[in-house]
Amino acid sequence: MRIGILTSGGDSPGMNAAVRAAVRCGTAHGLQMAGIKHGYVGLISGDVIPLDSRAVGGIIERGGTFLGSARSKEFMSPDGRQKALTSIDAAGLDGLIVVGGNGSLAGARWLQENGVPTVGIPASIDNDIYGSAMAIGVDTALNTVVENLDRIRDTAISHDRAFVVEVMGRESGYIALMGGLAGGAEVVLVPEFPETLADVSEHVLAGLRKGKHHSIIVVAEGFAAIGAGQTEKSSGRVVSNFLEQTGTIETRLSILGHLQRGGSPSAFDRILASRLGNAAVHILAEGKSGVMVALTGQELTSVPLSEIIRPSENFKPEIYDLINEIAN
Ligand code: F6P
Repeated sequence: MRIGILTSGGDSPGMNAAVRAAVRCGTAHGLQMAGIKHGYVGLISGDVIPLDSRAVGGIIERGGTFLGSARSKEFMSPDGRQKALTSIDAAGLDGLIVVGGNGSLAGARWLQENGVPTVGIPASIDNDIYGSAMAIGVDTALNTVVENLDRIRDTAISHDRAFVVEVMGRESGYIALMGGLAGGAEVVLVPEFPETLADVSEHVLAGLRKGKHHSIIVVAEGFAAIGAGQTEKSSGRVVSNFLEQTGTIETRLSILGHLQRGGSPSAFDRILASRLGNAAVHILAEGKSGVMVALTGQELTSVPLSEIIRPSENFKPEIYDLINEIAN
């Protein structure tokens, strides 16, 4: 049995650990393992390399993905998908493991429905995948956000300033929410709860009236202020410009950007990725497929790939309320 593995979409710390575990557990059970370079791009072009245990040595601590990743436009087209099926046949793959986020897992579902036994592994710093309590990379990204918020607070306190910190999350406010809670933010702005800029300014002023001299406002990149007619791409810039122009408080902007996606994976992410890589291989070896392996509570479960289009339940409104209460 020959199993291919690919990493796809936005990379996340721990993807290497998942590939390592799948390859080592697969070879230990007599399976032939193969890596597909650059996600669905390599699946279409047939860029497939054999992987043995030694080929995945020295990568558990490395961020990014040594296989490479991509957001393949071609795989969205019927023609691209047919080419992928042809390449899978040519490479003699009997099964596939797809490590990635929602878009990548939707591709996995299509492959499964078109005759390729496929298992998904959730990996996305956004943590917005249905059925997965923690995706690979989330813990590391949150730690990166918190470390940076701590540094920013040092200078915010020194200068009695507000800092608007823009974090990732085009469609999901999870990183802003959890990073904001752990980093002690005064205000968190997320796509799930739009507000007016006047309300944001009022939150900051309320803090000043209570004796605060600085303020940390964490903004998800997908936040859009109500009625702002936003033309600026950066949600953080919109908020910081407003606070500065209305004289609410001297304000600086910090956009964390892609540094949130890099870095050595945390112990949590390495452990999670190793467990999920192993579980995915076992499912395929047992002749099963069409599922994503995921963490629910402390245990691993299997979620049908067909269910993953449902909205994630990881964004908890009660955390948003908690942040506002603690910011008091
Ligand atoms: O999907 C994860 C994510 O990190 C989003 O939070 C972010 O908006 C996006 O990827 C950025 O993608 P890219 O690296 O393609 O610009």
